[in-house]
Amino acid sequence: MVSLMLALAACGTKENADGGSNGDGDSKGKTYTVATDSNFKPFEYLNTKTGELEGFDIDLITEIAKRAGYEIEFESMDFDGLLAGMQGGRYEIGIAGMSITPEREETLDFSIPYYDSGIILMVPEDSDIESIDDVDGKKIGSRQGSTSESFLGENTEAQVEAYPEIVTAYMNLANGKLDGALYDVPNVQYFIAQEGKGKLKTTGEILQGESYGIAFKKGSELVDDSNEALESMIKDGTYAEIYEKYFGEKPGDDWLGEE
Ligand code: ARG
Repeated sequence: MVSLMLALAACGTKENADGGSNGDGDSKGKTYTVATDSNFKPFEYLNTKTGELEGFDIDLITEIAKRAGYEIEFESMDFDGLLAGMQGGRYEIGIAGMSITPEREETLDFSIPYYDSGIILMVPEDSDIESIDDVDGKKIGSRQGSTSESFLGENTEAQVEAYPEIVTAYMNLANGKLDGALYDVPNVQYFIAQEGKGKLKTTGEILQGESYGIAFKKGSELVDDSNEALESMIKDGTYAEIYEKYFGEKPGDDWLGEE
């Protein structure tokens, strides 16, 4: 009963004026709400000058939707709210540098992987923490609902401080209120390059490999068409173009096109 009510309440779909002329189950021309975050650079962030969302994920899903023939509108929220909203069936699509994990796959469908990631420790330049083996009893920051938060809980005896926004962890680390932070490699590297140079550094190995996938409501009819669109973007170089725009280099060819 509860799941039925959730399904009925799941109104992430609005039909366009001409949507009714499409056959049942046809996504073409419909508008879907894409749940995203507003502060996970360089995947999604608010351009404070224009007030628009920007980032790798935003460009990626915009082009996917165009190729697959559906319309999208964005709604941004905290990452753990996004997870809960997706799992409750409130949104048809979610893109937020979300790692594909077996637990999440129980309640969500994922696209093919679109970015190879992992998690890594960030510490002050002069820290004596050299790897994850040194964090027991230390204050380590992360983000609520993230794979890093689970990793810390499952594999260490650190005092975990998980915040709704990862920047709070980064700021507290920079101000000496935390001993370290654990989070996604590209986001940590981006932060160090932009704001942490000479003060913060990564340390130790990448702790677990993770692949980002676009999340869909379980059973969504958009998965196949979206995957096809993404594959076509990988083949024709559009993916590489978007990648270079946000990461300043071409993607490695070690995983792309493997599918
Ligand atoms: N990749 C990590 C996870 O899936 C963190 C993602 C955080 N993304 C965000 N938009 N804040 O748990």
